[in-house]
Amino acid sequence: MENKIIHSVSAIFNTPDEIINAAKEIVKAGYKKFDIHTPYPVHGMDDAMKLRRSLLGYFAFVFGILGATAGLLLMWGTMVVSYPNNIGGKPIFPLPAFIPVTFEMTVLLASVATVTSMIIIFFKFPNNSHPLHDTEYMKSVSSDKYGAVIESVDPNFDFDKVKLFFESIGATKIEAIYFDDDELSVKHTLLDKKFIAGLVVIALIVSGATYFLLNKFTFMQPYNWMSYQQKLSAQSPTKFYKDGFSMREPVAGTVAKGKMPYLYADSVTLAETNLINPIEINETNLNIGKAKYNTFCSPCHDYYGKGEARLNGQFPNPPSLHSDKVRNWKDGHIFHVITVGQNTMPSYAAQLNETERWQVITYLRALQRAMNAKEEDMK
Ligand code: HEC
Repeated sequence: MENKIIHSVSAIFNTPDEIINAAKEIVKAGYKKFDIHTPYPVHGMDDAMKLRRSLLGYFAFVFGILGATAGLLLMWGTMVVSYPNNIGGKPIFPLPAFIPVTFEMTVLLASVATVTSMIIIFFKFPNNSHPLHDTEYMKSVSSDKYGAVIESVDPNFDFDKVKLFFESIGATKIEAIYFDDDELSVKHTLLDKKFIAGLVVIALIVSGATYFLLNKFTFMQPYNWMSYQQKLSAQSPTKFYKDGFSMREPVAGTVAKGKMPYLYADSVTLAETNLINPIEINETNLNIGKAKYNTFCSPCHDYYGKGEARLNGQFPNPPSLHSDKVRNWKDGHIFHVITVGQNTMPSYAAQLNETERWQVITYLRALQRAMNAKEEDMK
């Protein structure tokens, strides 16, 4: 006993009035490092003990501000920098819409920081022991008595004086509280190997059991409201719409993004006057034109445009593309034929995009030139 280190002197009081009075007396006597324990909150104790306001609020404030900043930065980074979206013409940085996320982040950081700083700074994590634990004193003040302790770290602490002082203010049971031997070592902290091993084992068992039960045995999806939502499949019949089809036609006049409708479907003359081949004559364009021509045009028009189809008469043979008529057409006219078709020839707008159509025309012009070489081409 003699070589044990003293932590404090404890005293028991019997009524709430006595403990309030005791608190006042302790403050009056000038003790700073003391504490009061009661089985339930006793009204007026803060005043009697002259407690300072807790510093916890500052932690919550600082981390709340941090959370708000992080939330706003997150929204700004994702929605303004990475994925700027025009949603119904609203501004790219619509502050009111970002408030919920910012608010959530504020509350999250403020509350998490409050709890963590309480545990780490005020409770001195990972230390989880205290000399008062498991004492007779603690047992009685947590059930039906009221207690006060004056700690040995108080500058005015003197064992005998404190004892006399407690007696003078009417304490019933006065005891010295000592540190346990191992309380000063790491054994009692949460870093204890067995404790950590226990946590790891529990984590493994719980997550393993959840995984096998939900994923392997019952095959339950964690969130299935996307898979099992109410919807109509494109090809299935429905009673929802009058016409019985699930698939809807686009609203009249709808233009897909980046798809300009062909403006001259009704008039080849307009096409011929307004459309100009934008393609530069070079090897790449001629090669693409040739490949596309050979794939989409040559089955009927043959590889040279002479109209010797490879379709064994299953389709009317087209006229030669080397006629004076076609050679004198402007590029726009051929573009029109490819785009909307001509009599029995169907439209190839679905197979060739606009650039490819111009590339085919450029190649076709080369074919025409080759078949009708002039004097000067020979030189
Ligand atoms: C399925 C067979 C077929 C394919 C494939 C086809 N055409 Fe035709 N093409 C025809 C027929 C048939 C005609 C004649 C239509 C008519 O009676 O006016 C024609 C007419 C034309 C004409 C007008 C010729 C004229 O003298 O009036 C041009 C230009 C033309 N095709 C270009 C092309 C191009 C370019 C392609 C490739 C994108 C192509 N065609 C693909 C069958 C085809």
